[in-house]
Amino acid sequence: MKIDIDADIRKAKTIPSKFYHSLKIYKKLKTLFARSWQFIGDANLLENNNVHPGILLDGMVDEPYLLTKDKGKIRCLSNVCTHRGNILCSESCESKTLVCGYHGRQFEIDGSMKFMPEFENVTNFPNKEDNLPVIEMEAWKNLIFITNEKKCNLSELIAPMAKRLDWLPVGEFQYKPELSRTYKVNANWALYCDNYLEGFHIPFVHKGLNKELEYENYSTQGIDNTVLQIGIGKDGENAFDIPHDHEDYGKNIAAYYFFLFPNMMFNFYPWGLSINVVKPKSPEYTEIDYFSYVWKEELMDKGAGADLDKVELEDEDIVESVQKGVKSNFYDRGRYSPKREIGVHYFHSLLQKYYK
Ligand code: FES
Ligand SMILES: [Fe+2]
Repeated sequence: MKIDIDADIRKAKTIPSKFYHSLKIYKKLKTLFARSWQFIGDANLLENNNVHPGILLDGMVDEPYLLTKDKGKIRCLSNVCTHRGNILCSESCESKTLVCGYHGRQFEIDGSMKFMPEFENVTNFPNKEDNLPVIEMEAWKNLIFITNEKKCNLSELIAPMAKRLDWLPVGEFQYKPELSRTYKVNANWALYCDNYLEGFHIPFVHKGLNKELEYENYSTQGIDNTVLQIGIGKDGENAFDIPHDHEDYGKNIAAYYFFLFPNMMFNFYPWGLSINVVKPKSPEYTEIDYFSYVWKEELMDKGAGADLDKVELEDEDIVESVQKGVKSNFYDRGRYSPKREIGVHYFHSLLQKYYK
């Protein structure tokens, strides 16, 4: 399928609807996601254990990885044994050595192969290929990102966000597992992103949130693989206390919503940060991992950043309704509002650029 999104939003049509349900298209997205940076958690994952396994985008990229910490250094390694491919570690633990449960191959915490039983007389063994491969990992503040196939530095992807919000002490925000959760949505991952990328639906779908925000002053811009939406709070609602020398000083900002292509959302509120990772599971099923990082707990119950659960469920309902609509024989492509759908148009243009 060819995606042809006119660069001029006034002329453009939205993505052909089969993008949202075709298995063939879904499978081809693996390359795009394998090349993206993905947020996986923060340095505290290795606070109590020095070994922490995971799967990079389970259901899309499916890459088993292993975070390890050795003498203060965090590494990301492949979690696949270099002998015959068994998964090395299945749960977080504290360990000095990694031992494969299949035939007993042992690795150091830094990934180098240490011992293999019954391998006498094997030529050219061990060599570099017997060590666990390193997976690219970079961090912003204490937030960890990995990628399966590095195409750019993380700093390039997060530049617009890092520049705008460098003044926030994100490293001091506390991760709250009790406020973090996974939502399950019966819709395509990109429909979920489309919906996130416009404030157009707020007065219709989020009547509560609409009371907190100045709809007329809601702004959206797409730049360098990022979409930034800024919500201006009504008078008296919680807003950021922005430094004097900052470009946003004087504005009553209730929320900065950063979308990092293709599937991550960094939502900054006066109380802290809610990170949403959109995980495609199948063409019509998606999971959204919510990670909550609290800065000022006393600000959580008011403003655009309050009641996130209610807003999420309202979004899920509408997105699941659209999922049914986009499969209709009578719907294919729509048009964009040049004023309100800049973010959706920008996202679709990026899909056109990176979907091969
Ligand atoms: S697969 Fe790991 S030792 Fe054989
Ligand atoms: Fe919404």
